Amino acid sequence: MEYQGHEFDDRLTLVDHPMVQHKVSILRNKDTGTKQFRELVRELALFEGYEATRDFPLEPVEVDTPLERCTCQQVAGKKVAIVPILRAGLGMVDGILDLIPSARVGHIGMYRDPETHEPHEYYCKLPPDVAHRTCLIVDPMLATGGSATAAIDYLRKAGVSDIRLLVLIAAPEGIKAVLDHDDKVRVFTCAIDRQLNESAYILPGLGDAGDRIFGTK
Ligand code: PRP
Ligand code: URA
Repeated sequence: MEYQGHEFDDRLTLVDHPMVQHKVSILRNKDTGTKQFRELVRELALFEGYEATRDFPLEPVEVDTPLERCTCQQVAGKKVAIVPILRAGLGMVDGILDLIPSARVGHIGMYRDPETHEPHEYYCKLPPDVAHRTCLIVDPMLATGGSATAAIDYLRKAGVSDIRLLVLIAAPEGIKAVLDHDDKVRVFTCAIDRQLNESAYILPGLGDAGDRIFGTK
């Protein structure tokens, strides 16, 4: 996929529906308060979840409507784990659970060192059968890609084969880092931004997603 002078592998999907773009604009605004920010992150995660599950297989099911019996379609036994990268990823979990209520939730605790920008793992807990599940890693921000690649490695070591990374805003550097690091992962984002600044924050971005979700700044 070509986007504003960048060439990306076609494992990248840009979720650029007009309503998604509209809501991302509100999310970016520095005057958007914590409550609305949190609601928008949840809602965007739900929209993105639709795209990330577009290829799920279906099977026929017989349904009795009030008028007659008909053959409909249902998702064919796909098992899913949602894996938020703490903290900010937590803001996307409920939106995906609205879409896939039967999903299990695993957690990967990771923070970026403010100086080196390297990820540090501090807590991980995955469902016991995670290797047999499609894993949707969720995190609003993909900056250098350090946190996402560490999370992907953790899931690969746990035996997961189907990994999809869902972010809301991504820097070109982070997308390339993730797609180059793992040759199977698929990446979904609602926006591709210009660049990182010297502190590895995304420009124009939305600031610190964790602080804005949890009101810690
Ligand atoms: C943010 C964000 C990602 C990471 C992205 O988390 O939520 O996890 O940075 O940056 P990267 O692509 O360069 O790794 P942060 O480390 O600030 O932790 P927090 O969610 O606890 O605020
Ligand atoms: N983490 C954030 O929350 N925002 C950025 O711009 C980069 C990393």
